[in-house]
Amino acid sequence: MSEIVYLNGEFMPLDAARIPVLDRGFIFGDGVYEVIPVYSRRPFRLAEHLRRLQHSLDGIRLANPLADAAWTKLMREIVARNDGDDQSIYLQVTRGVARRDHAFPKNIKQTVFMMSGLLTTPAREQIDKGVAAITAADFRWLKCDVKSVSLLGNCLLRQMAVDAGATETILFRDGKLTEASASNVFVVKNGVLLAPPKNNLVLPGITYDVVLEIAHAREFDVEVRDISEAEARGADEIWVTSSTKEVLAVTTLDGKPVGDGAPGMLFRRMHALYQDYKRDVMRAA
Ligand code: PDD
Repeated sequence: MSEIVYLNGEFMPLDAARIPVLDRGFIFGDGVYEVIPVYSRRPFRLAEHLRRLQHSLDGIRLANPLADAAWTKLMREIVARNDGDDQSIYLQVTRGVARRDHAFPKNIKQTVFMMSGLLTTPAREQIDKGVAAITAADFRWLKCDVKSVSLLGNCLLRQMAVDAGATETILFRDGKLTEASASNVFVVKNGVLLAPPKNNLVLPGITYDVVLEIAHAREFDVEVRDISEAEARGADEIWVTSSTKEVLAVTTLDGKPVGDGAPGMLFRRMHALYQDYKRDVMRAA
């Protein structure tokens, strides 16, 4: 079955979807997006993803083209029309099509695009052995809480990881840990789980929230606070989280082992709890 996508009110095969070259998403990267994991054909944490979408739209002063109920209906439909019980929905809203001018055009319609493909979560080996990460200066803009389609900074940073044979690039700004090129970052030191606070320098990750909720519920020692670069480099454990990576242990940083170079005890506990949580939520849905 060819992938079926949604574009501006219609479902169609991916190959048939076209946008005009003057779309501001293409010309300026003027748009926002969401990635929503789907387990057993049910979107995970949908209300939270829709809330973040609204936050991103507000952040770029763009009206939400659809009510939450309409988004929910569309997502159900796109999941039903595509293969696989576990999928990953990608949706994007841009400011629309207009003659090129930096200032916002008046009276144009947003472009709405959605697709859904098979969800690929980390391979068993990555979970068991952990992954490599490198570090870099966070040179992105100061609105990283907006899930903007202008991802050139993130793409450049992620390619640095690929070039180094690593999975992620962990970022520092002004001596502090922010996040990674496409995930949030947690650190463990002396049994305490440390998380950078949510602010304009990081994407408010949905998985980050799930991990913190589980950690609080299971009475982990948790501190949400600024983490210095030195603390991150001296960590016993480092984790990266995202909707598609779920929770992964970083076992080498810039080629040096993190802790003893194997996924740590707290990681193994959190990974198992995360899987249980997913299963329970989906069963209850
Ligand atoms: N990225 N930080 C950044 C910069 C990200 O791009 C992402 C996710 C996250 C984690 O957010 P969440 O837990 O809500 O997935 C943090 C998605 C998956 C992507 O761009 O494909």
